[in-house]
Amino acid sequence: MGVAMDLLWLSEDDVKSLLNMDDAIAAVENAFRDHGLGKTQMPPKSYLYFSKYDGDLRTMPAYLEGLNSAGVKIVNVHPRNRDIGMPTVMALFVLNSPETGAPLAVMGATYLTSMRTGAAGGIAAKYLARPESKVVGMVGAGAQARTQLMALDRFFDIDLVTVYDRSIESCRAFEREARAFLECDYKLTTNPQDACECDILVTTTPVRSPVVKDAWVKPGTHINAIGADAKGKQELETALTRRAKIVVDDAAQAIHSGEVNVPISEGKLKPEEIYAQIGEIVAGKVHGRTGKDEITIFDSTGLAIQDVASGRIVYETALKSSKGLRLKLM
Ligand SMILES: NC(=O)c1ccc[n+]([C@@H]2O[C@H](COP(=O)([O-])OP(=O)(O)OC[C@H]3O[C@@H](n4cnc5c(N)ncnc54)[C@H](O)[C@@H]3O)[C@@H](O)[C@H]2O)c1
Repeated sequence: MGVAMDLLWLSEDDVKSLLNMDDAIAAVENAFRDHGLGKTQMPPKSYLYFSKYDGDLRTMPAYLEGLNSAGVKIVNVHPRNRDIGMPTVMALFVLNSPETGAPLAVMGATYLTSMRTGAAGGIAAKYLARPESKVVGMVGAGAQARTQLMALDRFFDIDLVTVYDRSIESCRAFEREARAFLECDYKLTTNPQDACECDILVTTTPVRSPVVKDAWVKPGTHINAIGADAKGKQELETALTRRAKIVVDDAAQAIHSGEVNVPISEGKLKPEEIYAQIGEIVAGKVHGRTGKDEITIFDSTGLAIQDVASGRIVYETALKSSKGLRLKLM
């Protein structure tokens, strides 16, 4: 049978011009809701570990039945890439038709990854942070930090952002770029404790030894713990995690590779102590924050459903605006 088939190639620049934060938030919130309602398929990420290069590579498949969309992302994490001017995280996403299985589009997904990760943080804070939150603390000032702040800006009236990184140059670059979307006061610091004086704390470092101490975090703080997304990574002291209401994006992934993976593997936290998955809160099955003094943690590992939902928007918008390059497949 001779069926002509082509697919759409979308470069990183195409994706940047097609995906905005409001659309990413809407797509990811719907995906979380579907996850909470059990309407998604998402096998755990599979990892290759390149220990001699301090890096890893993951594949992330998912199917969203309600959106009639499926796909797979291939993504790496190599923190030392920054030393040679390359991003730590780079990704490629393939969108497939659930009906025939055919690939519909292939796109650069480095920007998409940052946007859908930022969107997840914004949504989590919407349900878990105090609504009057005004001060944001950033621990880590790299690629993910920028989109975290971009998404928080959609939900909160932010008047101060305290930015900590081990490199003050990274803090300065962060402020320069963040001012393009959020004009407010910025305080730059090389002391992580300063960043913890806040209403919403965002951690986006690749560390394996906690950078945030329990004693520095005051009651009522919400924490988006984004950086720990592989076995052995941990940004928050275990005592802090134990003191908090823990909401994960996906329990299996978080236990394997999220902020809770180290405390659980050391027997210092039990899986039953995880309060909920964010999708259960978005779907209205479980309450989010219930008191002003609660410390809440959103343990984000990054879900393939976030990529499929965001990739679908990019594809649809590309078709409407005739963006991208049609490639002949067969
Ligand atoms: N949860 C998710 O969905 C998700 C998605 C993408 C990336 N990530 C994870 O987020 C982390 C950051 O990714 P990125 O793309 O922003 O990387 P990046 O390299 O752009 O930024 C990381 C920042 O952390 C800083 N840093 C590194 N070690 C530090 C330390 N010991 N103390 C203080 N600062 C330190 C670096 O200077 C850099 O500014 C990685 O661990 C990555 O695996 C998670």
